[in-house]
Amino acid sequence: MRRSLALSSRWTAILVVISALCCLFSPAISVKHENFKTCDQSGFCKRNRAYADTAAGTNNWEAPYRIAPESLSWKNGQLQGSILKTVNANGETVRLPITISFLESGSARVVIDEEKRQKGEIELRHDSKIRKERYNEAESWAIVGGLDLSKTATEDRGSAKSHVKYGPDGKFEAVITYAPFGIDFKRDDATQVRFNDRGLLNLEHWRQKIDKPAPETKEGEEPSPTPEVPAGEDESTWWDETFGGNTDSKPRGPESVGLDITFPGYEYVFGIPEHAGSLSLKATRGGDGNHNDPYRLYNADVFEYIMDSSMTLYGSIPFMQAHKKDSTVGVFWLNAAETWIDVIKEKEAHNPLSLGIGSKFETKTHWFSESGLIDVFVFLGPTAKDITKVYGELTGYTALPQEFAIAYHQCRWNYNSDEDVKDVDRKMSKHNIPYDVIWLDIEYTDDKQYFTWDPLSFTNPTGMLEQLDQSERKLVAIIDPHIKNKDGYHVVEELKKKDLAVHDKGGGIYEGWCWPGSSHWVDCFNPAAIKWWIGLFKYDYFKGSAPNLFIWNDMNEPSVFNGPETTMPKDNIHHGGWEHRDVHNINGMTFHNATYQALLERRKGEIRRPFVLTRSFYSGSQRLGAMWTGDNQASWEHLAAGFPMILNNGIAGFPFAGADVGGFFGNPEKDLLTRWYQAGAFYPFFRGHAHIDTRRREPYLAGEPYTGIITQALRLRYSLLPAWYTAFHEASVDGTPIIRPHYFQYPSDEAGFAIDDQFFVGGTGLLAKPVVTEKAESVDIYLPDDEQYYDYFTFEKYSGRGKHNIVAPLEKIPLLMQGGHIIPRKDRPRRSSGLMKWDPHTLVLVLGKSGQAKGELYFDDGETFDYQQGAYVHREFEFRDGVLVSSDIGVNGKLTEKFLRCVKSVGVEKILIVGAPKSWEGKSSVKIGGGEAGLEFHPEEGNKAAWAVVRAPKVAIGEDWKIEF
Ligand code: GLC
Repeated sequence: MRRSLALSSRWTAILVVISALCCLFSPAISVKHENFKTCDQSGFCKRNRAYADTAAGTNNWEAPYRIAPESLSWKNGQLQGSILKTVNANGETVRLPITISFLESGSARVVIDEEKRQKGEIELRHDSKIRKERYNEAESWAIVGGLDLSKTATEDRGSAKSHVKYGPDGKFEAVITYAPFGIDFKRDDATQVRFNDRGLLNLEHWRQKIDKPAPETKEGEEPSPTPEVPAGEDESTWWDETFGGNTDSKPRGPESVGLDITFPGYEYVFGIPEHAGSLSLKATRGGDGNHNDPYRLYNADVFEYIMDSSMTLYGSIPFMQAHKKDSTVGVFWLNAAETWIDVIKEKEAHNPLSLGIGSKFETKTHWFSESGLIDVFVFLGPTAKDITKVYGELTGYTALPQEFAIAYHQCRWNYNSDEDVKDVDRKMSKHNIPYDVIWLDIEYTDDKQYFTWDPLSFTNPTGMLEQLDQSERKLVAIIDPHIKNKDGYHVVEELKKKDLAVHDKGGGIYEGWCWPGSSHWVDCFNPAAIKWWIGLFKYDYFKGSAPNLFIWNDMNEPSVFNGPETTMPKDNIHHGGWEHRDVHNINGMTFHNATYQALLERRKGEIRRPFVLTRSFYSGSQRLGAMWTGDNQASWEHLAAGFPMILNNGIAGFPFAGADVGGFFGNPEKDLLTRWYQAGAFYPFFRGHAHIDTRRREPYLAGEPYTGIITQALRLRYSLLPAWYTAFHEASVDGTPIIRPHYFQYPSDEAGFAIDDQFFVGGTGLLAKPVVTEKAESVDIYLPDDEQYYDYFTFEKYSGRGKHNIVAPLEKIPLLMQGGHIIPRKDRPRRSSGLMKWDPHTLVLVLGKSGQAKGELYFDDGETFDYQQGAYVHREFEFRDGVLVSSDIGVNGKLTEKFLRCVKSVGVEKILIVGAPKSWEGKSSVKIGGGEAGLEFHPEEGNKAAWAVVRAPKVAIGEDWKIEF
């Protein structure tokens, strides 16, 4: 369905779309490598790598960048000055203004620009009308706070270096060396992050193209060779570049930026999603098991993507964490253009006889982007939690979703009619399978014209939405950024009339191909386009929509079937005169943002939290909704790939993530489908989805025992919704991931740093390792400490640091509870989360070795923004010395009282104590205030822990109380 040819005529394009559609019916195999560039095929990637090789291969390599000391000035936590880049053997230089900001949040930011371009003193080729500056607006899309300058940072300037003390208690230091330019970032006197350590700083300054006269050739003679290019500079990709039949006209010539960033002493690096590979990033310069190409960030519709690859995917977050025992640091490369990151890992033995014992690791990274500024934030930790918090202060925290959005979503391409939707809805209810949302893919529209319904198959959208609403269920409909170019389609007519679409390099409206055939793309960089887009979602404009309809934004990389690398030409022009090249990786987020804004304003006074799923994303997209990992395949490899990808997204600030359950392409065998539901029950975003060419696979179709097992997995998700929602709340206030990898929870435990197939759920102490391998009947789960762990379902005991085997036949999800936690649940099975809203809670006390336990519960109305004014319950439960206490840890606001009144009758129906002390044997009641409730004790049986249950303690979930055991 996606192709790579450059298409000159509409007919060719139509043929391509037809042949593409035919591909829908052939089995999925593997990515079309030839559609996407390798580093060697990307001019600036090749140039920057060559620069690195030259530096490494040159004795005493002298980096040509130095700070002019006399240019430096320090004011209010900010050091400003100029870097001089020596550009030729005569010592001529160009000026690169540099600003180093030390922020109140404890991070530091380094921005390097180019003076000539700031001043507009350059000439553009091809009479181009684009901007002359380097793109400097990434900040306005990605950053929402955390930029206050430090009030306590101090500078001490010397003749060769400048020392800046900053950060909490002045424990951080930046040592800026003037010549060659470099910065060492230190914490507690030890260097953690080093800039330009290898001398790879590279800012390709603007220069005029000097056309070399074509070599004269006389008739009958061989043409003489082209004149030699100056040593060290390969001009072949400076002025234009052709790939897959598309030529990029590059009106500003070469303009890439690059920098090496070294993490001395750090072996592990994580982050820079989105790639299909392990959580722990691999080295990228070849060698056994390593990648050959750098990790690439260039949002693209990578059809049939492959596993264990540094290839780009749909989204980009240029944020990396480096981790070693007890220390995490990070960098955020704020650049929206195509970016590549090389990773080199080196092991330096202190002593050749030590055989690796006491070896020192170093991870060297090299970042380069095609255009824009060098703009890098440095985070010195010391914990991963500190870093995700500060990164979230800058780019925003996960928006707290409506509760339905974290329940189960039932999707396929396509539900064929409103009757089909209603039928699935009825069948899910009939089979007692909970779900909250049913989805409509592109076929619901009239001829792929968004904001319309197919007149034959969706005759009564309102009736469909009403039926769903009866069970508090919702509908999500897809709306993509390509607008069908068809006479009489009111949306495209307005788009054209108001001139709100992306332009081509000549300034005309850009036309390309996507699902609807010939299309235009709304330019959501334009505030006027956002305003217009908002209007399209009003209930009276998008007829047939209703408050329980939400939106899915797909293809927003943007995907253009006949564009270079299935996206837009880089020389397309966006609002403000910026080239698509400059803004590509942010493009998807701007569309997601416009839709988010639209859902906020569908009707005046109706304020509900939007839900918008996006495929393409950038730093900051977490403020707007959820993402999923795109078009995966119904294979065990793809099932296994989901967790590392979702964990990586989580530590990179965008934890509301999931993969298509069941696999998008292909038909999963029933055991794969079942295992996938068991895994999906642990995805923060939990949606089953399938390609149009696959067989129907709604859970009730699987047949027994599969349907029953899948239903159990769904019920597990639903009963733990209070715990999931509490974890989402935490992510929304401090950026802590929702599912958490080992290194994040146990930063001292080296054996766990690379683990990415098991994880913790929020702060609940739930440790899950869903089965992701074919025919596996057990898994080895790794315990990071000596705490007591219990099987979630049987209370079987596991303890001792290291690996433990858990028997896991098809019906079993390997899920442990770590001692010391209290887990909130709701145990009454219902059709949707909305119907569970006022259900009583169950509290599971999982007693640790100390006999104590602690936990949290957060909930609010699950729909509106009233929680921002205190309309929520936030409780801490603590069990110690035989007493369980519920106390308030919320902050009162204007709406607190009212909300508490409203939830007064929401109670606790059951308290389950796992690992109950033997001394309770014979005990039959507990004391609650002046009253009592019954206690049932079950002694230890073999390896199964003793447990007890208190039924109907008659306490309200939102109030202070004490239960004495
Ligand atoms: C893209 C999406 C997929 C969707 C399809 C049709 O391939 O990734 O989820 O079903 O487009 O809209």
